[in-house]
Formats: sequence, C-alpha cells, structure tokens
Amino acid sequence: MSDHVLAFDAIGQDFPAPGQRTNIRVLDGISFEVDRGKFVAVIGPSGCGKSTLLQMAAGLLIPMRGAVHHRSRRVTGINTEVGFVPQQAQLFPWKTLCENVELPLLLRGVAAGERKERVASALEAVGLKGFEQHFPSQLSGGMQKRGSIARTLVYRPDIILMDEPFGALDAQTRMLMQSDLQNLSMEAGATVVFVTHDITEAVLLADQVAVLSQRPSRLLANIQIDLPRPRNMFEPFRNPGFEAAYDAVWTEFRSQIDTGRAH
Ligand SMILES: Nc1ncnc2c1ncn2[C@@H]1O[C@H](COP(=O)(O)OP(=O)(O)OP(=O)(O)O)[C@@H](O)[C@H]1O
Ligand SMILES: [Mg+2]
Repeated sequence: MSDHVLAFDAIGQDFPAPGQRTNIRVLDGISFEVDRGKFVAVIGPSGCGKSTLLQMAAGLLIPMRGAVHHRSRRVTGINTEVGFVPQQAQLFPWKTLCENVELPLLLRGVAAGERKERVASALEAVGLKGFEQHFPSQLSGGMQKRGSIARTLVYRPDIILMDEPFGALDAQTRMLMQSDLQNLSMEAGATVVFVTHDITEAVLLADQVAVLSQRPSRLLANIQIDLPRPRNMFEPFRNPGFEAAYDAVWTEFRSQIDTGRAH
C-alpha cells in the first residue's frame, strides 16, 4: 500500500528539567513518513527536538509516547540498518582515513577483498581518493566531514540520517558538499533524513520539508518540494520555482523565530 521506509507515529517526549519538579515537554505528537528514495529535510528552531527525533530513528532513544517504524517494524533498540552522520565529524584520530572508513565493514565481518573495494568506492564518491593514508588531523574540516559521510555510505545503510552535517563548514565548502550530497543521493537512490536550520539548504536538497515548531514541538507543515533535479546549489535563485518553495517554508518557519524576541 505505502512506500514508507520510516514512519514517525505520534511521537511524544518529555525530558527532566534540572532543578525543576516538572519535565519539559519537547516533542508533542509528531507524525510524518519518509518514502523510499526520498530526501526529507527536518527544519525547526534550536532546541525543538530535531536531534532527538534522529536519535529515535537510530534507536538510540525510545520515545515515551508513540513509535518509530522502520519498514513497518517498530524500532525498539539500536537500529543497525540506518547510517547516522552526527553533527561533529568524529573520525578516530589514531586511524588513517582508509581505516576509519573500513571500520563499519570490519565490525560487520565483511571479507578483506570486498572491504577494499567498498572503501575505495566510498572514498571516490566523496572525492577523497588519494587521501587514504592521511590521518584526520592531516585533513581539512570539510574533508573530515566527507570522510565521516564515506564511513556511513560504505555499509550501504537503508536510510541515511544526517544531523546538520554541514553546519560548521564555510560557505563555499558547504555548497560543494551540498552539491556532492545531491549527486550521491541521486545516483544511489538513497533515502535521507537531513536535519538543518537553513531554509535554503532544506529547499535545495529536499523532496519534502518537515517544519517543526518551538517546544513543545509539533509538525507545522510537511511541504513538498518539486523543483527539477539536478538543482543548482551555487545559485539557489536560478532554480525555477525556488522562490515559491522558499516562501512556502519561510511562511511556516517565521512565526517560530520571532516569538518572544525583541518585543
Ligand atoms: N538526554 C536528554 N536529557 C535531558 N534533556 C534533553 C536530552 N536530550 C535533549 N534534551 C532536551 O530536549 C530539547 C531538544 O533537544 P534537541 O537536541 O533534540 O534539539 P534540536 O532541535 O536538535 O536543537 P539544535 O537545533 O540546537 O541542535 C532541548 O531542550 C534539550 O535540552
Ligand atoms: Mg540538534
């Protein structure tokens, strides 16, 4: 019937507030689905619970209310079929790039010959061919980030979860990375859930943008982005339909930004 790979079903979560008797309600009945091969951006104000939602999809946190379903199975523990690229690139500093990317395959017991091939193709996909023997400290921030993406791609996860992966990068590197990610996900037909603060980034990358409100966070809108691909990451305004799509997201988002400030 449906082509959903991942479904957030009425997710609710409270967290204890240090020094207070009552908990903080963070997520309040969030529901949306991610279809196979789609790129879904999740956008919302700081502290609204975006990272918390990704942790739930990865099975690192089990929601208090509601459930996450991955391929119709309720996620009740660590979900080894998803790939998680955290906000900070965390390559092991004592391992070379090649060893870092190989690690998930070693842990999964993949044979040496296949490991070598898959590491080479993952590094090629993120433009790091030739840097196999470099240690993370010998790579730029953007290259480390690409390395951590390669380490996720290498085991061909069913879904790639990315938590503001490009937030710390300079503007040019970021555009290059966005463009690379678009190419990668188009070629691989990957299913991606991508958390960001940035409306332009969300509109350029995504097929669908889930807009969350401030805490207690609800789904304000789930906006379809139908701009043709490949999209131009370097000149956003040159994509036909970009302005209208940006406006649709901004209209939902703006009410969440002004609240309680400067009045
Ligand atoms: N393990 C935890 N224990 C207590 N509170 C938590 C925990 N994890 C998250 N929170 C709280 O939940 C809220 C949402 O956190 P979360 O990191 O999911 O937000 P976010 O939307 O990812 O924010 P940002 O955009 O700043 O990364 C915050 O108020 C945070 O303090
Ligand atoms: Mg976060």
